[in-house]
Amino acid sequence: MNKQSALLSSATTTFFCEVQNGALVIRHWGAPLTGEISQVELATRPSVAHSGFDSPVVAGVMRESARGFLGRQTLAGHGLAGAWSTRFEVVAFSSFDSYVLVTLRDDAALLEVNLSFSLDSFGVLRQRARITNLSEEIFHLSDYIHWLPLPREANQTLDFVGRWSNERNPQRRDIGTGTWVRDSREGRSGHNFSIAEIALTKETNFQSGEAWAISIAWSGNSQYAVERIWDGSQSIGGGELLLPGEVKLARGESYEAPELVAVYSHDGLDGLSHKFHSHIRARSQHPLRPRPLTLNMWEAVYFAHDEENIRKIVDVASEIGVERVVLDDGWFHSRRDDRSGLGDWVIDPLVWPQGLTPVIEYINSKGIEFGLWFEGEMVNIDSDLYRAHPEWILQESGRVPPEWRHQHVLDLGHEGAYQHVLSQVDAVLSANNISYIKWDHNRVLVDAGHLGQAGVHRQTQAIYRFFKELKVRHPQLEIESCASGGARVDLGVIDYVDRFWTSDNNDALARQTIQRWTAQVIPPELLGTHVGPTHGHQTGRTLELSFRAITALFGHAGIEWDITEADPKQRKLLGTWAKYYKENRDFLHGERMVRVDYPDASAYLHGVCAVDQSRAIYAYVQLEPTIAVHPAPMKFPHLDHSATYFVKAVHPAGRPRYMLIETPEWLLNGIELSGSALANIGLSVPILAPANAFLIEISRV
Ligand code: GLA
Repeated sequence: MNKQSALLSSATTTFFCEVQNGALVIRHWGAPLTGEISQVELATRPSVAHSGFDSPVVAGVMRESARGFLGRQTLAGHGLAGAWSTRFEVVAFSSFDSYVLVTLRDDAALLEVNLSFSLDSFGVLRQRARITNLSEEIFHLSDYIHWLPLPREANQTLDFVGRWSNERNPQRRDIGTGTWVRDSREGRSGHNFSIAEIALTKETNFQSGEAWAISIAWSGNSQYAVERIWDGSQSIGGGELLLPGEVKLARGESYEAPELVAVYSHDGLDGLSHKFHSHIRARSQHPLRPRPLTLNMWEAVYFAHDEENIRKIVDVASEIGVERVVLDDGWFHSRRDDRSGLGDWVIDPLVWPQGLTPVIEYINSKGIEFGLWFEGEMVNIDSDLYRAHPEWILQESGRVPPEWRHQHVLDLGHEGAYQHVLSQVDAVLSANNISYIKWDHNRVLVDAGHLGQAGVHRQTQAIYRFFKELKVRHPQLEIESCASGGARVDLGVIDYVDRFWTSDNNDALARQTIQRWTAQVIPPELLGTHVGPTHGHQTGRTLELSFRAITALFGHAGIEWDITEADPKQRKLLGTWAKYYKENRDFLHGERMVRVDYPDASAYLHGVCAVDQSRAIYAYVQLEPTIAVHPAPMKFPHLDHSATYFVKAVHPAGRPRYMLIETPEWLLNGIELSGSALANIGLSVPILAPANAFLIEISRV
C-alpha cells in the first residue's frame, strides 16, 4: 500500500495521520506508537451497519456532510449561490521533522485549506489552518473549528467556569451522546472562559491517568466542543466563534484560524501542566529575567493619588525588598473615579503637578523599577476623546451599547483610534522611565460593530498588533494582561505579554483555588500573585500574613496592600519572605509543578519538584478544618526512590496558627528519609487552624 501518511512523535505522544480517499484522516493522537502500523486503517475499519451507509464513512478532518459525516463540520460558510456544502480533497501532502503540511481543495466551492500540524519535543501539538477563497464570489465563513479524535476511554470532560474575583473553577462531567459546547462571547477571553477543554477518564487525577487537552490561542470570541455522535465516535474541537458576516473573503483573501494547542498526558493533569509549561517556557518571548517582586498600588491608594503618601509606601516597599512599583488607575486626565478620563492618556497636572518624573526618579533611586496602568481599549463618555470622536467606539447603527463600568470599547480596528491610543501611550512611555505596563480591559464587547460589520475579530487582531508595535518601540517593556483580574488569560495574548493579573481577588483562600487551576495551563511565573491586606478587600476575610505570603510565593510574587499599615513585625516578615522568594524563584519558576492527590479534600499539598529529583518545595495548605483529628500524612511523588532526602518545614513569613499541644516531632529539627518512604509512607501533618499553611523543603543529601 502506498499511502500518504505521517507520524509525529515525541517521547510521550504520537500524532498519526493518513490520506484516505482524498480525505486527511487523523488516526491517532495520544500515547506513543511504534513498530508496524501500516494496517491501522484496516484494523479499525468498522462493520457496515443496518440502516446505514453501504460502506464505512471516511469523514477526515473536514468532517463533511458530502462524505457522510453527521456531526458538526469543521468549516461552515457559503457563497452567494454555492459553497454551502464542501468536499475537500487533499492536493498536497508533505511531512518533515516534526511538521505535517497539507493542502486541501474543493474545486466546486473554489476554496483551499492549508493545514499544518507540528509536535514539539514535549509532545505539544499545534494545529494551524488557513482558508482561502479562490472564487470570484465572496465567501462568508461562519465557522472553522480544529478537531481532534478522542478514544472511547475518554469518558469525562473537565473545563473551567468563573466570574469576576472567582475565576477558573473546575467543572467535570460525563461525556454523553451529543455535543458539549463552551462558548465565549465577551469579545475578550473572559472570566468564564475555559483556559482548556480537557477530555479524561473517570479515574484520571493529578498524578495519573490519561487526559487530552486543547487550548485555543485566541483572546476574542471562542468555542470549544466535545462531541460524541450516534455512531459512537467522539472528538474534541476548538476555534474562534465568528459573528454573523464577520469574515467575508473576496477572491484570493484568506482567514487564518487561531491556533489550537493540544496536549496528551498519560500521567494525569499534572502531566498536562508540565507539557503546557515546558512548551510555553521554550518560546523565544518567554521572560527570562527573574520575576521582580512587585508592589501594585491599586488596593493601597485606589484613585487617591497623593505623591507624598505614595513616597511613604515606596519607602516601606524598599525596606521590604520590592523590585518593581506599579502606579495603577487614576494618574491621567480627569480620572478621579471610574466615571471619566478613559481615552485621555495624558498625565493629569491636578494630581501630578510635576508630572511622573520626580516620583519615578525617587522610586528608581531606591533601585526599584516603575510600572504604569493603562486601559487603552476603552473610553468614558466623559472624556476629551469621546467628545471629539464619538464615532470611534465599537457600535452598530449609531446605537450606544449598554454601559459597563461607565465605559465603552474603542474601535481599535479604526486606524484613527488605534493611532490615537498608540501615540498617547508611546508619548508617556518615551518621556518617562517606565519598564512595565499593566494593561487592563474592564468590560465585555457587545453590539460591537466596526463600520457596519461585526468587529470582534478585527479588535482582537488590533490589540495583538498594538502590543507588538509597543514592544518594537520599547524593547525592554514588559506588559501585564489584566482584564478586571483574570478575564484575558489565554494562549493567544500570551505571546505578547509577560504576566497575567490572575484575579482581582487577593483573598489568599480564594486565590489558592484560582491559582491552582489557572496554572493548569499557564506556568506560575506568568501569574501575578500578591500578598493582600490583613482584611481582604474583596471578601472582607481576615487571614494570617504567613498564609497570604505562602499563597503568593509560587507565582510572580508581589504585594497589593498599603504596607504603611503593616506593623514592624509584619514588615520584617515581609522582608524575610521577599528574601526567600528571591532565593528560590529560579527554582519555583523553572521546574515541575506538582499538585499531590491528597486524600483529604480539606487541604491542598502542592509544590515544585526539580526535574532531576534533587529537591522540592511544597506547601501544605489547610483550607478548612479537618474532620479526623490528624490530617492524612503527606506523601511526595517525583522523588528518586533510592535517594535519601532531608526534609524540613520552613516559615519565611512566620509560623502558621496551630490547633494542637505539640507539633509532630519531625517539624522541630527536620528528618532524613528515602524517596520511597517519602512517596509511600509520608510525613505526619500538624493540626492547623483553617486558612493556614506552611512550607516543606526537601533536598537530596
Ligand atoms: C481592574 C483591575 C484592577 C485595577 C482596577 C483599576 O479592576 O483588575 O487590578 O487595576 O481595574 O481601575
